[in-house]
Amino acid sequence: MEQTQHSPIIIAIDGFSSSGKSTMARRLAATVGYRYLDTGAMYRAVTLYALDHGLFLPDSTPDTSAIIAALPSIHIDFAVQPDGTQHTLLNGKDVEAEIRRLRVSEAVSPVAAIAEVRHAMVAKQQELGRDKGIVVDGRDIGTVVFPDAELKIYVDASAETRARRRFKEMVEKGAAVNYEEVLANVVHRDHIDSTRAESPLRRADDAIALDNSEMTLEEQDAWLLEQFRRAAGL
Ligand code: DC
Repeated sequence: MEQTQHSPIIIAIDGFSSSGKSTMARRLAATVGYRYLDTGAMYRAVTLYALDHGLFLPDSTPDTSAIIAALPSIHIDFAVQPDGTQHTLLNGKDVEAEIRRLRVSEAVSPVAAIAEVRHAMVAKQQELGRDKGIVVDGRDIGTVVFPDAELKIYVDASAETRARRRFKEMVEKGAAVNYEEVLANVVHRDHIDSTRAESPLRRADDAIALDNSEMTLEEQDAWLLEQFRRAAGL
């Protein structure tokens, strides 16, 4: 509804895993009539492909050269469902549920650290955002993918808060998980995502920081909508 009243902008939302950024990104996109791009889903889809094609070494680290060689065979798209949600497609197959499993979560960070994988994903993301009017969530959106985004948000919350959220989400989906395992995975991924050589997670200088540990969903929505209005000149 608001989209017709302004020139469309790009909203970059970066932060650690389970910081609530995808929920806030998705909700803002629905409210203002923008598209939503979940870049983490793309790295997850590449990881799923690698797992299913034996592209990991016996010590469970990614077979980097085999994954790079496979990149031209990996096609990632998104399909909007009748209820408005978005599903990730890997070579035409709906893998939305599969890419959220712990098997993928545990393997994704080292795959997302491979420079060639990042270059391929970033190129696709930039293509998808060319017409603006999009909310993009990830780790390097405000720093690398869309450094000129009109609105950049950097979301933070403690590892425990984020692990609790992820645990609840997984239990609700019927997964048999244990909290300590989820917390360990969150801490481990934080470490890899923020210390890797290639575009590590960091706050862009012009990003607005948000610690949402103590915020309700409604407070968060209202805060973000306010930032959007200001950035879009509404
Ligand atoms: O947001 P997520 O948990 O679905 O992300 C999955 C992994 O992909 C995580 O290890 C970080 C990585 N990622 C990334 O490196 N860059 C992005 N833009 C998005 C995600």
